[in-house]
Amino acid sequence: MSEQRAIALQLCPFSAHLESELAHRFEVIRWFELPVPAQQQMLEQRAAAVRAVVTGGHIGCPNELMAALPALGIIAINGVGVDKVDLSLARARGVRVVRTPGVLAEDVADLAVGLVIGVLRAIPAADAFVRRGEWGQRSWPLARKVSGRRFGILGLGEIGSAIARRLAPFGPVAYSGPRRKSVPYPFHAGVVDLARASDVLVICCPANESTHHLVGASVIDALGPQGYLVNVARGSIVDELALTAALATGKLQGAALDVFEDEPYVPEALRASERVVLTPHIASATVEVRAQMADLILRNLDAFMRGEPLTAPVI
Ligand code: 8YV
Repeated sequence: MSEQRAIALQLCPFSAHLESELAHRFEVIRWFELPVPAQQQMLEQRAAAVRAVVTGGHIGCPNELMAALPALGIIAINGVGVDKVDLSLARARGVRVVRTPGVLAEDVADLAVGLVIGVLRAIPAADAFVRRGEWGQRSWPLARKVSGRRFGILGLGEIGSAIARRLAPFGPVAYSGPRRKSVPYPFHAGVVDLARASDVLVICCPANESTHHLVGASVIDALGPQGYLVNVARGSIVDELALTAALATGKLQGAALDVFEDEPYVPEALRASERVVLTPHIASATVEVRAQMADLILRNLDAFMRGEPLTAPVI
């Protein structure tokens, strides 16, 4: 009888490198491509062979799926956010959880700075203006100065610190988070206070119960009609309805968003606004960093299958 290979359930597309390396190690089932009846059938027939779930930070692992996999031993997240994995359930089930810390902060910070400059200088709208052939036909409206702005960093972790280092040469940086750190930037315990002291609020904190809709109407009001919001963390941290209302009524000057409450759905009000810059959750999406993320995932999957210690496990 031929030996059964362990199954890895793949919950979203990955780079060609990661996908081919996974296929060397496991029988990979591309769960995200299966219609629901085929998913049910797979679970009925083969759930007991599934040892790993490999997923993105924006997808995690739904509780029903975790519960339906009796031999699941590890959830490997191709990202740093653990908000879409129920860690208590994983712990109770004895499922290990790994992610990719230490490799993506610089690229997320690069995109955050790109979004700051992009929204204040209206770079995407200017690009569209040129492409539409309107240059020379009508004048281009003046944008807003980046240098000298006050930047508020919500969440001064690895990513927030990399963003602060990049923005500090442009203008004063302050931050908020669960605790004061020994850094040269002023600390604001409350997000409303941070927003009041900022022209541009950059969200880069983890998504969890305490940060859900942390940035709502009162924070946006404190940022004010000349203020800008930038989000490279998770859509759930921003009350999207409050944001769209503020943009529509001129209570906020602009926003640049890489993440959304219900990805890949982006509200029409945001898509229609020229004062908003939108990117499709790409902050860590560079060839270089995705290769490093893949290596970390593979190292941990190999260690798990050999019963060896994991690198920086969440649990
Ligand atoms: C990824 C992320 O884009 O690190 C995270 O938490 O959201 C991103 O790096 C996502 O996990 C896609 O795989």
